[in-house]
Amino acid sequence: MNLEKSLAVDPELEYLETIDSTNLELARRLEGSLLPDGYAIAAAAQTAGRGRLDRSWVSEPGTSISLSMFLKPAAGMEQGLIPLFFGSRVAMAVASITGQTAAVKWPNDVLVDGRKISGVLAELGSQGVVVGVGINVERQLGAPETSCAVSEFVSSSFDETLSAVLGALRTGWKSWRELGNGFALSEIRASSLTVGKEVKAILPSGEVLEGKAHAIEDDGRLLIVGEQSHLLSAADVWHLRN
Ligand code: BTN
Repeated sequence: MNLEKSLAVDPELEYLETIDSTNLELARRLEGSLLPDGYAIAAAAQTAGRGRLDRSWVSEPGTSISLSMFLKPAAGMEQGLIPLFFGSRVAMAVASITGQTAAVKWPNDVLVDGRKISGVLAELGSQGVVVGVGINVERQLGAPETSCAVSEFVSSSFDETLSAVLGALRTGWKSWRELGNGFALSEIRASSLTVGKEVKAILPSGEVLEGKAHAIEDDGRLLIVGEQSHLLSAADVWHLRN
């Protein structure tokens, strides 16, 4: 696959047909060189895509976009907001491409119609943060009913989708840098599907909590109020009812 001209001449975007993981590849590049803030790698397929909480992320050829971007947050930028903020920017791009409402299930799932269309994984490295985004473009064989793909709503090429997502990420990151954490938080809160819902959360320890998702805190943690209050920094969350 060849990228269209506008993307092919982007000096801060590298396109690879196949790689193990764009997040891993960007981390390897950063070991040997200095890369500019915003440098990105996109791939049409990953052989060992990584998901949150050490899960794998399937990206078969031609079915999804894998995109990773290197970020050098300025002092004071709240790094805990990165996955949520990038999720909100992906939701914005997905909404513009598909014409559907897209929003973020805390902490990192972009949903359309209650089904996952994209996931975000932010990983901290020595030089900064690598944020990776996987977007389902075509339905993958055996994909769960709880997922969906751009092609179910609209016929959008790989390039158009990549260009829209990359543009939304870059402009968002620039605005966050210029306008501060308040800007990121207002986008995050506006795009949250989770706040206000009764939820069940499974923590990485296996502990299960139920309660109402009350708020996303200034550092990105989710406040759940049930029998007790809990501030979650990592969990799998299910929306039970409104
Ligand atoms: C999740 O929903 O668990 C997060 C999935 C993140 C997948 C993306 S695809 C691009 C980047 N490279 C990876 O190996 N993972 C992220």
